[in-house]
Amino acid sequence: MSERIVSGEARNEDVAQVDLRPQYLKEYIGQEHVKEMMDVFIKAAKNRKEALDHVLLYGPPGLGKTTLAHIVANEIDAQIKTASGPAIEKSGDLAVLLTSLEPGDILFIDEIHRLPRVVEEVLYPAMEDFALDLIVGKEETSKSIRVDLPPFTLIGATTRFGDLTAPLRDRFGVVHKLEYYDQAALREICGRTARIYETEIDEQAIEEIAKRSRGTPRIVNRLFRRIRDFADVLNEGVIDLAIAQKALDKLKIDSVGLDQKDYAYLEGLIDNYNGGPVGVESLASSISEEVTTIEDVYEPYLLKLGFIHRTPRGRKATEKAYKHLNRSYQGGLFE
Ligand code: ADE
Repeated sequence: MSERIVSGEARNEDVAQVDLRPQYLKEYIGQEHVKEMMDVFIKAAKNRKEALDHVLLYGPPGLGKTTLAHIVANEIDAQIKTASGPAIEKSGDLAVLLTSLEPGDILFIDEIHRLPRVVEEVLYPAMEDFALDLIVGKEETSKSIRVDLPPFTLIGATTRFGDLTAPLRDRFGVVHKLEYYDQAALREICGRTARIYETEIDEQAIEEIAKRSRGTPRIVNRLFRRIRDFADVLNEGVIDLAIAQKALDKLKIDSVGLDQKDYAYLEGLIDNYNGGPVGVESLASSISEEVTTIEDVYEPYLLKLGFIHRTPRGRKATEKAYKHLNRSYQGGLFE
């Protein structure tokens, strides 16, 4: 896993900060559309005393998919069991999880696109009919018996919607994409974090953190903690614009939240490949990163900034990227 401070991927320090996570929908900032819809579905299911329909949440890392799953469990007052796609290796592992559920419980599966195919097939009848098909006996005498499961809600999370198989995708009644947060929401999240940590921070510093956090709450919180270290050591614990800028510059995070890895990516694209188009594999090997990390973590934000385009022939740097890197743009001349 990447060690970048501005990577949206979860790290231990993020998971340890459970106190920062909102517990109920009303504390959850941003993602207004998702919140509004989930509020209705949760209330409807509660009124009918039925399990909530299965929910799929997708989008870049760090936007709050796991947080939202825990909030749903709190809102419906149900238990939540959590698992991760690649960790469920055998169909028996999933059977153990499913048979441990109580009526109305939530089963949260992170990285659900990485479930092995044989395991995924056990999920289909579980999701559709709350049933588990077990094979008992050996070879020619084996037969399938169906075991009833309690009604439950599966919440699946993925950064790669396109990697889900159609049969799995189709079994979710509710599908939401989490979007990057706007500046107002990021400022609010930063202000909330400062209150929880009882840290004095001024508006300009909040704005600076919001600007450099890649639309991602997890990064807001991570940057906040590092800046607070600087503030504690150098500024009597007070975060003002000067200490925030100093810390962020030392952490080598630029004005729009790009770090050295993003620079390596963009400089590789512009300087080595004349701005592209170039295949993602070549870019990945030139900056020693996995293709999936580039696709899931770096590129979504570079696309959002309008710094790159994905074309059928590969990645291309845009004029905006050239300007940001102080390179002269000649792309238009030869097209
Ligand atoms: N912390 C992380 N994500 C959050 C969100 N969306 N709302 C409030 N606090 C958060």
